[in-house]
Amino acid sequence: MTAPGTPIAVITGASSGIGAATARQLAAAGYRVVLTARRKDRIEELAAEINEAGHQATAYALDVTDRTAVDEFATAFQTLAVLVNNAGGALGADPVATGDPADWRQMYEVNVIGTLHMTQALLPALTASGDGTVVVLSSTAGHSTYEGGAGYVVAKNGARVLAETLRLEIVGTPVRVIEIAPGMVKTDEFATTRFRGDTEKAAKVYAGVTEPLTADDVADTITWACTRPPHVNIDLLVVRPRAQASNTKVHRDL
Ligand SMILES: NC(=O)c1ccc[n+]([C@@H]2O[C@H](COP(=O)([O-])OP(=O)(O)OC[C@H]3O[C@@H](n4cnc5c(N)ncnc54)[C@H](OP(=O)(O)O)[C@@H]3O)[C@@H](O)[C@H]2O)c1
Repeated sequence: MTAPGTPIAVITGASSGIGAATARQLAAAGYRVVLTARRKDRIEELAAEINEAGHQATAYALDVTDRTAVDEFATAFQTLAVLVNNAGGALGADPVATGDPADWRQMYEVNVIGTLHMTQALLPALTASGDGTVVVLSSTAGHSTYEGGAGYVVAKNGARVLAETLRLEIVGTPVRVIEIAPGMVKTDEFATTRFRGDTEKAAKVYAGVTEPLTADDVADTITWACTRPPHVNIDLLVVRPRAQASNTKVHRDL
């Protein structure tokens, strides 16, 4: 049973990695969390785990690139405290000369258009809450480029610009916009998805890096930023592991 006035947080891409960790941490911080992702079984399992721990969670299968489904989902919310736009990721690491345009399109669709869909559909409820927070998971890839990264870098620059522009446009309304830009985070699926299931290639991303960031590290920064007093807007948090000085300068013990 939801206590009256319990703030609600919607998290996209809550079926794995940073999204799942954020769902656990926001629930522990007192939000009723609504977990969304395409894999229904995963989010239902996580919602059950969170509820068993004495917190409040529900699961809703949703593809953020499907505008009709997003609009239908949004009708459930009169008011919303937090939207975490986390669904996203990279596909491939090919140079510009040979990158697959279909990969570029797909990355743009989920990282940018997905974030646009969710933000547009839920902005009225975020505003109605009187203190709404939009979080956009960009990446350090949204701030500087690297060889083989262009398709993802373009998409994450799009997510960054969406956040920056929205902040300008809605100033004066009771909604703040927070961009979280992580560097290297070792999650179970990010690199495997990028290399289409090639676990050897995926493992090379983290080779020799003793302590890459974890999903929990990033969830901690998201939860911290969301739980600041409402008038405090953490515009941007760039979070990297100590072993990573830039996208291309990583210390590896090999
Ligand atoms: N790991 C890193 O090094 C790193 C660094 C910087 C930024 N990031 C960003 O942080 C976010 C989370 O990354 P992660 O490492 O946790 O990756 P992950 O484990 O691969 O998680 C990606 C999540 O996005 C969901 N998703 C993908 N396409 C979707 C769609 N069309 N509709 C709804 N959900 C969709 C996936 O769920 P379903 O497949 O179940 O739909 C999954 O839950 C991403 O935006 C990523 O770009 C990651």
